[in-house]
Amino acid sequence: MYSLWSGLELPALALQFILAWIAASKATRIVYGGSTGVIRRRLAKQWGWSFLLLLPAAGAAACMWMLMSAYPPALWEERLYLEAPLLLLPLAAVWLLSVPSLIGAGVAARSAAKLEAKESAPDMDAFTSVAASEAPSAAASAELKLLRRAASPWLTLPYAASALGAAAALYFRIVPPASLSWQELAIPLAAVLVALTALWMSQRSRAAAVERTGAAVRGPLWKRAVSGAAILAAVAASAAYPIYAAYQSSLLPGELNMMAGPVDDGIPGTAVIGANNLAAGTVQAGHLHSMTGASLAAAAAAPAVYAAEPRARQLTVDQLTGPQTGDPDRSFELTARRAVVTLSSGKQVDAWTFNGELPGPELRMKKGELIEVTLRNEDIDAGVTLHWHGLDVPNAEDGVAGVTQNAVMPGETHTYRFRAMQAGTFWYHSHQVSSEAVRKGLFGALIVEPETADIPVTNGTAGTTGTVETSGTIPASAPAQPAMDIPVVTHVWDGAGLAIGSSDTLQRSSIPAGTKVRLRLLNTDDWARRTYALIGVPFQVAAIDGTDLHEPSILQNTRLELTTGGRYDVTFTMPDRPVFLSIGDSSDSGLLMSPDGQGNPPPIPALATFDPLHYGTPQAAPFGADSRFDREFTMVLDQKLGFYNGNFDLLYTMNGAVFPKTPSFLVREGDLVKVTIVNRSFFDHPMHLHGHHVLVLSRNGVPADGSPWWSDTLDVTPGDTFELAFRADNPGIWMDHCHNLQHAAAGMSMHLMYDGVTTPYSVGSATTNHPE
Ligand code: C2O
Ligand code: CU
Repeated sequence: MYSLWSGLELPALALQFILAWIAASKATRIVYGGSTGVIRRRLAKQWGWSFLLLLPAAGAAACMWMLMSAYPPALWEERLYLEAPLLLLPLAAVWLLSVPSLIGAGVAARSAAKLEAKESAPDMDAFTSVAASEAPSAAASAELKLLRRAASPWLTLPYAASALGAAAALYFRIVPPASLSWQELAIPLAAVLVALTALWMSQRSRAAAVERTGAAVRGPLWKRAVSGAAILAAVAASAAYPIYAAYQSSLLPGELNMMAGPVDDGIPGTAVIGANNLAAGTVQAGHLHSMTGASLAAAAAAPAVYAAEPRARQLTVDQLTGPQTGDPDRSFELTARRAVVTLSSGKQVDAWTFNGELPGPELRMKKGELIEVTLRNEDIDAGVTLHWHGLDVPNAEDGVAGVTQNAVMPGETHTYRFRAMQAGTFWYHSHQVSSEAVRKGLFGALIVEPETADIPVTNGTAGTTGTVETSGTIPASAPAQPAMDIPVVTHVWDGAGLAIGSSDTLQRSSIPAGTKVRLRLLNTDDWARRTYALIGVPFQVAAIDGTDLHEPSILQNTRLELTTGGRYDVTFTMPDRPVFLSIGDSSDSGLLMSPDGQGNPPPIPALATFDPLHYGTPQAAPFGADSRFDREFTMVLDQKLGFYNGNFDLLYTMNGAVFPKTPSFLVREGDLVKVTIVNRSFFDHPMHLHGHHVLVLSRNGVPADGSPWWSDTLDVTPGDTFELAFRADNPGIWMDHCHNLQHAAAGMSMHLMYDGVTTPYSVGSATTNHPE
């Protein structure tokens, strides 16, 4: 609904602009009617235009009203403050100035017409006729009066002001300012004022010409054409510089340290929505900014937020590693290489793989184990890294090129060591050109089993082949009940389409009745909120984003919608009849489970949609909505037309900006942090914070009242407002970005920085590092 009302406003504003433009040009032409009769007719028509202008304005107002009645102010407030005056003031002028002028001119026209009729009457005697030719006749002076009124700027200008106001409102909708600060509004509003003044002066000179000559004659066409062209040229010339400046400032430097850019310290009371005073380059003291002298000087000069406090310890990302010594409990080797992989249908995919498999091999481990993963890049020219999506590892192991390491180029290796401290469903993927790498296959499932797993050694793997463990075994505990654990990794392969793992046909699996089954659903695709439905059995959503839910209730005929990068664990006990996991509400695509591996997909019934906000039962969480927060941040997601690295495009913005102008969130270790995410855009944005799990406090003002809902990849749909909380307990520099990786690659990315932590790495065309 948000998208509808927000979207309808655009055509309303555009229509307002077009109608007002026509009305303005008609208004200026009234005086050149040539005869009293024509002028009279044009005056009458101008009434119609005045009424017509009310329609789109009413439409825009209705849209705004719908937004205001259903959504919190963060979604419409700034728009209201800008658009209401820009639309309503000129309209008021039309009705308070132009319309009375129309009435006055109409009266003058009527009397002029009457006098004209009288003076040209055939029964007029010769004497009066002669007198009339010697002195200005009453008719002539009435005509002059009419011309004066029709040429008055008070009649014509409000229509032009309407057009300008609508144009400005449209501009602010297409290029929304990050805040209502004067820096952001000054230039467009000044342009409106200049244009209005110019129009006023030209209308005054028209009126003066009428006064001088006593007649209304338009200049010759060529003259009007020349002056029109001159105006266009002046407008283009004055727009050229701001456009060029925007282009220039969008160019990414060849080398950019991730510490550069504006910072938001989120201290309550000083926290700001967006980058208003931050975009100007303000750096908060207490935060060691980038390594340049200029910014250090700026930091020293800025108000000292922490002046009285001891400085945080100084660390670089490289020091924040996992355990460097000790034999790993489990080690894996992943080799990135190009390969042509055949799917179950026989279709071939020209892919980027780990160990030649699509998706990469499943990495399975137990909670608490020390893991060592050796990454080798054989021939991926773009470079590779490994990021453990959702697993909160130490910062140096996070695998983001240019932030926590350099990209691993062909022939190079990199070793990751960390303890897997959360049991759950995660995944790994390259975080070097991730938008391309993930699409082409550089990812796989990462499963952490609880220490005391009742999960059997034999795992059902959907659509994947074996594992790549090079050491360590999962001890075969004897489960009380036979159990099966099936990762369901969905992906759309280039040129082949949707598949579970590498299986792009209906997949069958035979599972004995009575088996406890855990399906680990993982959506890896950009742009897609993937839907899954388990048909034929009651089930529970046991975990979201790798965190178990408390007392999940039983669901049936319920559709699960999974955002890009998100995971749901679904558990059920296998009945003695077929059960079908449908993907995308389809009977052709999915996983058919039955005791004998036979059977057909059952028909898909009507489905309700799962909502985690009220699912399960509450349980004590370490913090909640009424905790005292050390930092509060607001993240406004929106879109605007503009330049990114020199390309003019639709930009997906965070707090009004795209990377690297997105303000970083600055925290100190131990802080309790609140983040409010507001999606004012037309698009879904699955927001992913590295290294932390956030607790959902509320959505659209409705408190989360089910099981604590911890997320690492949150589906923020248009019009959504989420309040989130997390503890800053994992020092480092952490990406916080949209997991629609194409959005991230287009700049929808920022980071969470810990005070005192710096990185020696950088991104940009002069480096090999391109994290998105
Ligand atoms: Cu799954 Cu920053 O990524
Ligand atoms: Cu996005």
